[in-house]
Parts: sequence; C-alpha cells; structure tokens
Amino acid sequence: MKLFDVYPLNDITIVKAEGAYVWDDANQKYLDLYGGHAVISIGHTHPHYVKRLEDQLHKVGFYSNSIKIPLQVELAEKLGKVSGKEDYQLFLCNSGAEANENALKLASFYNGRKKIIAFKKGFHGRTSLAVAVTDNPNIVAPVNQTDNVIFLPFNDEQLLETAFSQNDISSVIVEGIQGVGGINVASNTFLQKIRSLCDQYNAVFIADSVQCGYGRSGKFYAHDYSGVNADIYTMAKGMGNGFPVGAISISPKIQPKHFMLGTTFGGNHLACAAALAVLEIIQQDELMKNAEVVGNYLMTELKKLPHIKEVRGVGLMIGIELPEELKMVKRNLLYNHKIFTGEAKPNVIRLLPALNISTLEADVFLAALAKELNNS
Ligand SMILES: Cc1ncc(COP(=O)(O)O)c(C=O)c1O
Repeated sequence: MKLFDVYPLNDITIVKAEGAYVWDDANQKYLDLYGGHAVISIGHTHPHYVKRLEDQLHKVGFYSNSIKIPLQVELAEKLGKVSGKEDYQLFLCNSGAEANENALKLASFYNGRKKIIAFKKGFHGRTSLAVAVTDNPNIVAPVNQTDNVIFLPFNDEQLLETAFSQNDISSVIVEGIQGVGGINVASNTFLQKIRSLCDQYNAVFIADSVQCGYGRSGKFYAHDYSGVNADIYTMAKGMGNGFPVGAISISPKIQPKHFMLGTTFGGNHLACAAALAVLEIIQQDELMKNAEVVGNYLMTELKKLPHIKEVRGVGLMIGIELPEELKMVKRNLLYNHKIFTGEAKPNVIRLLPALNISTLEADVFLAALAKELNNS
C-alpha cells in the first residue's frame, strides 16, 4: 500500500528531537521554530513529559469513558487554574477540528439555532462543520457546503452588528490570532463587540484557541487580551506537546445532558497524562511569561531588519510578511541555515516555536534571517 499523497514534503527525515532542536537521519541538527505547526509547547522530548507518559503507560494506557478516570478530573482542575477559568467545564476530545465540531454543536443545542458567524481568512479544521466555517473553498467538499454559515470581514464591528440584527445567530467562532490566515490579530474592541452581541442575542461566543491558545500569546488564551470571556474555548495543538488531545472549556451557563456529546478516545489515560505534564511545565517554568518576553524581543529585533513589509503577532505567534519576490527566504532558512519555520502564504513566515525557547535561540534565527535579507 502507498501513502495517500496529500502533502508536499520537505526531503528531510527527523529521527531525534530535544528541546528546541531536531536531528535528521544524517545527524544534521535543526533549530525548530515551527514546533510541527504550533504543537510543541514545552519543547521536544521534555524529561518530565516523557516520564509522566512512560509511567502512565505502565499503569493503564486506555479505558473508555464508561468508567471514572480521575486523571480527567485532575486535568480539569489544573486547566481551570492555569487558564484562569475555574468555573468552566471540560470536555475532552482528540483534535482541533473535533473541538470546534463539538463547540458549534453544543452552541446549537444550547440555543436551538443554526446560523454561525465565521470570519474571512479564518481556519477551523477539515471535518464537516469545522471546514464549513473555514474560509477556503478549496478544502470544502460539496457535502460540507451549507448556508448556515455567514462569513464576515475580520475585525469589522459594524458588519457584525448588522449580521446579528438580520439573522438568528447561534454562535460566533473566532481565532484570537488567525494562524493559517497569515497571523492577523483580533482587536480588543472587536472581541468585546462579539461578547456584547452574544449577550444581547443569547448567542454563543466560541474562541478558537487551537493554534493561538495554551499560553502561546503570553496569556493562556489570546482572546484574554480583550478582557472579556468567551462561552467556549476550543484547544488542541500545544495541549499534548504532540500527543493527540483536544478539548473544549465550557462556561457554566451551558449545562450538560447525558449523551449530548461523546467520544471513544477523548480523555484517555495517556492523553490526560500528556496534557497534565504540559500544564505542569507551563506553570512551573512560567512559560507564558517566557512567551511574552522572548516574543517581544523577537518582534522588536525583527522590525529592525531590511525588506520586511510587516511584523504581526503576539507572544510566540509571529508573522513576518516579506515582499512576494522574497518568498524563497523560508526555504533558504531551512536548507541554508537549518532552521524550521512555518508559512502562511509563501511570503509570510510564521514563527510558532516551543514556549521555552531562549533569546539565544531567537538570536540564531535573527542572524540567519538578517543574512538572507541583506543578501537579497
Ligand atoms: C485555529 C485552528 N483551528 C483548528 C485547527 C484544526 O486542528 P486539527 O488539525 O487538530 O484538527 C487548526 C489547525 O491548524 C487551527 O489552526
């Protein structure tokens, strides 16, 4: 059997990883500022993470949600504390798309409505409703098409108000910082407006924190900068540092009923152990603070480099927009300087490193980028 060929691949095979570095099968070392797409939050093969997973594997790896799993309760308590939403409720699943599916479905159960507001350039996943609220027709199959979704321009408060007044809105789904869309930050007043309209119309505010959440912005949820709470936060990526785990954190105003949501694998013992290990390190090593400090440092230094059109982002979620003709810089960083970065469009470099990278590692990247730009 062959692999179903859906990804263009770099000709690199990673065989070892530690902290902010990975090594290929020829023992070449790379600095990883991509984190496998914002997934590596506490660094590769973190010793505490490895030990917690290893210990758990020797006890019990999996049993279904038909029995008590105290690790889930421990995770809910810890996540409540670290995220500052102790009165919220946790539902565990396995991925970002699944978290968004559950959030949109729960919102519709809550108010009995169908219409969803989503935003231009937003990305929320590839499954049924998640892809329907994603602004990319190329990945929406005919079966996913629906007229229940209204796409509005990001950060446009006036059009939001109009859409609410003309439709029976169930929920609004919004990234705090658009990732795939090119690192676009939601303004505080925009998020505040979503909050007040959702309150006015009894709609549900869903904060997609799959990429921008889990401390990456310097706060636990990027939406926290606005000073208002969402009704549901969706999360995945950084949550398990590579172990597939996702979740939604649900406001106390939404009450559960048996069987309204469910999952076979979500919240299994190993996933909880991974998620707990991540939260323990985020808290113990003050990684949100580090994300803010190193993020600010990177943004300040990046703004001094030539040719860059714009630097956008918050904390360790940074987009560097280059002129179209410099779109090969990302590739050069990988092949000439052995540095992994992400991309949004080919000319927007995305930095999504582990939250514990140091300024020394940031300097290695800045020097490499400066060299590439000065030679252009
Ligand atoms: C903001 C956002 N939401 C949802 C998803 C989907 O997550 P997953 O790939 O785990 O299904 C992604 C993935 O890139 C994302 O960036």
